[in-house]
Amino acid sequence: MVSESAIADAAALLRAGELVAIPTETVYGLGGDALNPLAIRRIYATKGRPAGHPVIVHLARDADWTKWGHFSAAAHTLAQAFWPGPLTLILPRQAHVPLEVTGGLETVGIRVPGHPAAQALLSAFGSGIAAPSANRFGGVSPTTAAHVRAEFGDTVRILDGGPSSIGIESTIVDVTSDSPALLRPGSISEEEIEALIGPLGQSNPPAPGTLKSHYAPMTSLLLSHNPEMDRIRLESEGRSVAVLAATRPEEHARNLYGELRRLDALGVDILIAEMATNVGIGLAINDRLSRAATKLSTDK
Ligand code: TXA
Ligand code: MG
Repeated sequence: MVSESAIADAAALLRAGELVAIPTETVYGLGGDALNPLAIRRIYATKGRPAGHPVIVHLARDADWTKWGHFSAAAHTLAQAFWPGPLTLILPRQAHVPLEVTGGLETVGIRVPGHPAAQALLSAFGSGIAAPSANRFGGVSPTTAAHVRAEFGDTVRILDGGPSSIGIESTIVDVTSDSPALLRPGSISEEEIEALIGPLGQSNPPAPGTLKSHYAPMTSLLLSHNPEMDRIRLESEGRSVAVLAATRPEEHARNLYGELRRLDALGVDILIAEMATNVGIGLAINDRLSRAATKLSTDK
């Protein structure tokens, strides 16, 4: 349990324009006051993230969400069904939402997280908290307070709410137009969404920040359907390897980033990650793994 004084301290820091790393059920976020452009700039600077990448606004379950974005009927349906929870909706922004938050776009990403400590902080703060994942730009998202500390040291205050229960980032659905689109797969599946609002379209163009290379460890990563065979082959070529095996899908997702971090620190030549079966949350796992395995020349 997170103490009331820890919540009060974190809310005071946010009010002062400082950043606080916040626990959510998906991954930890690097939070700042969503209405304070200076706090948002601080988020960009701390992450080393280029400007123009929009940041998700997190809201309390009993906040008036419509103060932040325009909800279509489909948006309403999804919010009622999945909030609080691991779903982000992209909506037309309300005029007072700073362009620093939206990356200059006329749309805003909104999520009502389910984690009790995040909800307690949002209630105490009484406004929206802008928060991208609490990792340096392009790196692996953090699912524990220790991961956040490994990213930023003691420079960022952390509200420790324990390990994230889901372990991969929220499903993102663009509901700004008449044909809603999936922008990022997550633990809430496309099928669950389509059952409520009908077929989803393709996102075109893709969300800024959904780069091909993302969530990447330093070590080269090989995706595999048969990790044992690949291990034997690579070792016979004289290369040292470590294997991240697939487990039950929910467990695989929960442990994914922690395992990538742990294996990355071993100093082997190659990490082999076993792909998940391409259904449900497995699709989201494979999405993250393929981005983690893609090294662009602009990396590092
Ligand atoms: O689970 C999550 O979503 C976590 C936790 C902390 O809430 N947050 C997260 O934030 O993953 P971030 O910034 O690492 O990824 C957010 C993604 C980015 O790809 C960004 O481009 C997209 O959401 N996004 C945010 N606002 C958007 C908007 N207005 N239009 C299109 N994409 C948007
Ligand atoms: Mg991120």
